[in-house]
Amino acid sequence: MGKKRVDKGTFYGVGVGPGDPELITVKGLKLLQKVPVIYIPKSGEESGSFALEVVEKYLDSSRQEIIDLVFPMCKDREGLQQFWDQSSRLILDRLGLGLDVACICIGDPLFYSTFAHMMRKVSEGDPNIPIKIIPGVSSISACTSAISLPLVQAGERLAVIPATYDPEGIHQVLLGFETVVLMKVNRVVDKVLPILEDLGLKKKAVFVSRATTDAQEVVWDLDQLRDKRLDYHSMMIIKKHS
Ligand SMILES: C[S@@+](CC[C@H](N)C(=O)[O-])C[C@H]1O[C@@H](n2cnc3c(N)ncnc32)[C@H](O)[C@@H]1O
Repeated sequence: MGKKRVDKGTFYGVGVGPGDPELITVKGLKLLQKVPVIYIPKSGEESGSFALEVVEKYLDSSRQEIIDLVFPMCKDREGLQQFWDQSSRLILDRLGLGLDVACICIGDPLFYSTFAHMMRKVSEGDPNIPIKIIPGVSSISACTSAISLPLVQAGERLAVIPATYDPEGIHQVLLGFETVVLMKVNRVVDKVLPILEDLGLKKKAVFVSRATTDAQEVVWDLDQLRDKRLDYHSMMIIKKHS
């Protein structure tokens, strides 16, 4: 008699929203309470996992396997490859046993998220694995809500870039767009401030960190940020027409 074939599990990318546990979608919450395996990618820059903090109270570690894996913060794709390989093997093992696996991410899973790499690795490892995405409220929506200003209106154009981009690139983007969002700004505020000053945009910029959480901070006087250690979950929004 041949072996009984086990159906493979589904790999889910679940956006948990920007921080307030009430901002996860109903669909995302139901799925997270159902799956047997939850995978939590986190960067070396966070000591804990912000995404896990958001959903922890919804999970049940007595019946769900919660796997925590650290991806170092670096731009070296080759260096990161081994971490992606290891984690995707772990995920593929569970999926191969027929278990559904959810990977949680802050905000939306397809917006600057490690999930995109995991999704690629999993489908390279086994193209027959079903992959489903449950979108989430992104941090940009959370930050514009925190400042009660529209992100863009009518004919305005929006650029979203990592602030770790080269300074000349940031300068060019600021010249070309009415609204600019600088993600991952925490470590480079001191490099960004002179660019904003050069362009006369310092008073048009706002810094928001941990939006929608109890630790939310909104700073309009950017000089207050100089030489400060800032939270990784922060961004700057520059609105020329505010
Ligand atoms: C790897 S990206 C994740 C983006 C996420 N997938 C999303 O949809 O918003 C991390 C960056 O998102 C931004 N971020 C995430 N959560 C935030 C929050 N609650 N408040 C402010 N910025 C946040 C920060 O710029 C941070 O450096």
